[in-house]
Amino acid sequence: MQSQIPRQTTLSGIFLVGFMGAGKTSVGRALAQHLNWAFEDLDDRIERREGRHVPEIFRDSGESEFRRAEHAALSDVLAELRAGAVRVVALGGGAFVQENNAALLKAAAFPTVFLDATADELWQRCCQQAAEAGTERPLLRDINQFRELYETRRRNYLQASNTIQTGGRALEGIAAEIAETLGLTRIEILTQQGEVE
Ligand code: S3P
Repeated sequence: MQSQIPRQTTLSGIFLVGFMGAGKTSVGRALAQHLNWAFEDLDDRIERREGRHVPEIFRDSGESEFRRAEHAALSDVLAELRAGAVRVVALGGGAFVQENNAALLKAAAFPTVFLDATADELWQRCCQQAAEAGTERPLLRDINQFRELYETRRRNYLQASNTIQTGGRALEGIAAEIAETLGLTRIEILTQQGEVE
């Protein structure tokens, strides 16, 4: 994996970025499990804050209102990390593209990991998720619009501190590579009975 930041030993937050279908949530969960950290999906926090699902926010209030809520949610997560929380965070596909969010993350100096794959593979994964789990994505329309948006955003994603290729790879392998590149090992917590969790 290509890395632009030095290894840190006291890291408490990792942000996964990338386009729709990049696997930010599933790789995030696998990485959190690998490290014994907590996992958070920023879209879930937005839904809790707003009391509405993401597609409803887009439909009833528009994308600009969604972006406002997304920025507020990201500010809250960063405040919690600064206060001592330890977390792997999956961002929505547009979050890192917004300049105000990218600036917040840069200032906070947590690693941002871009999960890269081809537009065709991302499209296939999104279609599969829509068919299997009914996942609704307001910005998922047709393959041409999808490719165009991917091309426009890719240069923003490449500003992340790390880039990892995910095409055709198992989640655990990707998670292990991220942990290794960032110099992180699993947190072991001693229970009251003296067992390692
Ligand atoms: C968006 C991606 C979605 C969600 C919202 C907007 C985007 O997240 O945040 O629908 O702008 O690409 P996923 O990348 O998890 O689908």
